[in-house]
Amino acid sequence: MAQPRTLVAITGASSGIGAAFARKLAPHYNLLLIARRKERLEQLAAELNEKYGAASEVLVADLTQEEDVDRAVKRIADAPDLVLLINNAGFGTPGPFWELPLQVHENMHRLHVLATVRLTHAALRNLVHRNTGGIINVASIAAFVRNAGNASYSATKNWMTSFTEGLYLDLQAAGSNVTVQALCPGFTYSEFHDNLPVSRHRLAGSGFWMTAEEVVDASIAGLHRRKLFVIPGWRYRIIAALFSKMPAALRLSVEGAVSRRRQHALKAERPPDKQISGAK
Ligand SMILES: NC(=O)c1ccc[n+]([C@@H]2O[C@H](COP(=O)([O-])OP(=O)(O)OC[C@H]3O[C@@H](n4cnc5c(N)ncnc54)[C@H](OP(=O)(O)O)[C@@H]3O)[C@@H](O)[C@H]2O)c1
Repeated sequence: MAQPRTLVAITGASSGIGAAFARKLAPHYNLLLIARRKERLEQLAAELNEKYGAASEVLVADLTQEEDVDRAVKRIADAPDLVLLINNAGFGTPGPFWELPLQVHENMHRLHVLATVRLTHAALRNLVHRNTGGIINVASIAAFVRNAGNASYSATKNWMTSFTEGLYLDLQAAGSNVTVQALCPGFTYSEFHDNLPVSRHRLAGSGFWMTAEEVVDASIAGLHRRKLFVIPGWRYRIIAALFSKMPAALRLSVEGAVSRRRQHALKAERPPDKQISGAK
């Protein structure tokens, strides 16, 4: 007899890595697709329901807004069939910290930190007493390697990895079967860089750029093995290992040199785009 489908909730499901998670999981799970762009979510839900017989549901929410997070929290807390929450919604910033409106930084902290805390709390209260399921927090290689122009981004992604480690220890101490993962991708083809001064041509063919599908495959394989950290791509695993072990002074001088080289190369390629993703 076929098992009844359980539910996976994905934030930032309207594009990139979130949509790739949805496509990968739809053959086996019902999906709760969360993001701001209603039309995108509805199109994806219709496609997946038709193709795989999933019962995908759309929850339109701006996760920087408390009332919208409240609705997502309620849906996740009350779902008796929830097995996985993927905290994936996120955006990057271009340029020095002080040059961007404060609201952009506040929104980034609301989205990467506060929404993650609130949704994870709701999901774990639901999952831990059933002793099943998991949480994937989509952080970044930027949690290990800082760059000029990325102060809030690196800090919030670093927070995500540390938060996930803390959850891991809590769950382990409680003898729980619930699993947590910090997924730390490097450069990934998606809409993420559309408004950022990052050229997809630079480093193309070097193996540093990965597809969203490759990132998702690594994450799901890691989830089956209950891996706490998943860093897709061997190049990034080496970088993360090296940067984690370097003395701070050496690390900062390498990060500074890489930032200067990157800015120089970008200046030569095109003038920086002034649009800011996530600013509304
Ligand atoms: N691409 C990379 O190179 C890369 C590398 C490392 C880590 N990451 C991380 O991977 C995650 C997914 O990014 P991606 O590469 O797939 O980029 P993407 O294609 O731009 O997707 C970002 C997703 O987040 C959603 N989102 C943004 N702001 C939101 C808000 N205020 N409320 C609700 N949803 C919001 C977007 O949906 P709406 O616009 O419809 O709301 C979209 O679905 C992010 O956390 C990012 O930091 C990406």
